[in-house]
Amino acid sequence: MSRVDRREAGGEAEGAPAIIRVEGLSFKYYGSDQYALRDVNLVVKKGEFIVLAGRSGCGKTTLLRCFNGLIPNFYEGEMSGRVLVDGMDTRNMPTHILSQVAGMVFQNPDNQLFALSVEADVAFPLENLGLPREVILERIEWALKILGIEDLRYRSPFELSGGQKQKVAIASVLAMRPKILLLDEPTSSLDPASAKNLIDSIVELNRREGLTIIISEHRLDLILPYADRLIVMDRGRIVRDDNPRAILKDEDLLVYGVAPPRVSEVARYVNAHGGCLRFDRMPLTIREFVEKVRGLIG
Ligand SMILES: Nc1ncnc2c1ncn2[C@@H]1O[C@H](COP(=O)(O)OP(=O)(O)OP(=O)(O)O)[C@@H](O)[C@H]1O
Ligand SMILES: [Mg+2]
Repeated sequence: MSRVDRREAGGEAEGAPAIIRVEGLSFKYYGSDQYALRDVNLVVKKGEFIVLAGRSGCGKTTLLRCFNGLIPNFYEGEMSGRVLVDGMDTRNMPTHILSQVAGMVFQNPDNQLFALSVEADVAFPLENLGLPREVILERIEWALKILGIEDLRYRSPFELSGGQKQKVAIASVLAMRPKILLLDEPTSSLDPASAKNLIDSIVELNRREGLTIIISEHRLDLILPYADRLIVMDRGRIVRDDNPRAILKDEDLLVYGVAPPRVSEVARYVNAHGGCLRFDRMPLTIREFVEKVRGLIG
């Protein structure tokens, strides 16, 4: 079995230890009369690549905030249930400790960058940790290299493109050497080519560095081919949680405000209308679709 097949069968992550455990989690923001999360239960294994999807307001960002302790430590509200991150109960652990384990990249990189140079931005959280200078320099070099942005080191973050800024924001989180990377719609302000480039870098971090990735994303076409799991949320609840191909084979996700990749919609249409072409394994890319058709016509 190849590594990709093992991932798809859930085999690779199956034996891996849990890195996040969510048990009966509900959360209501202070002043709100509606629960943003309702009885969420979830186990994330080390090294998994998880995509969170669902219509606007369904609770994706709120759930991500629970993974790095911003909820309940920063956002006030009513929380029940518990979240364990690398064995730590987020209710008893300060955010500066949790954020070293679960680093969060926000939707808008401008909220994360404020120093005069990229280097200073990446160094800032490390200086706050009181790390020795040589360690800081080593980490900066490592983080910029892994994202392929060494050439931006002495540039001002404010003069960079959206995609470059987003990579700098990721580098500054990575330099903390977290085990989990949380990304909240990181491609939302990027053009398709920059979005693809950013997603390629995120996939590399998962495959090469073994980072656990949880990413909320509307562009499923680009991201699903790499995901071990797709979690669909609706009004604060998890309504689907499985391998993306399994979900897309039987489900029309549009009821949850999620647009499936076009290629899997076409494959579902083909399956529904009979004929000699049948997709038992849902294609997630055009290449997979074409390979199947080629196999059929010899
Ligand atoms: N800081 C906050 N204070 C009060 N309510 C909030 C806050 N942040 C989010 N909410 C509410 O919680 C619910 C879930 O919002 P959340 O931002 O988690 O959704 P989302 O799935 O990330 O949406 P989007 O796709 O638009 O980013 C919504 O009803 C939203 O209005
Ligand atoms: Mg959001």
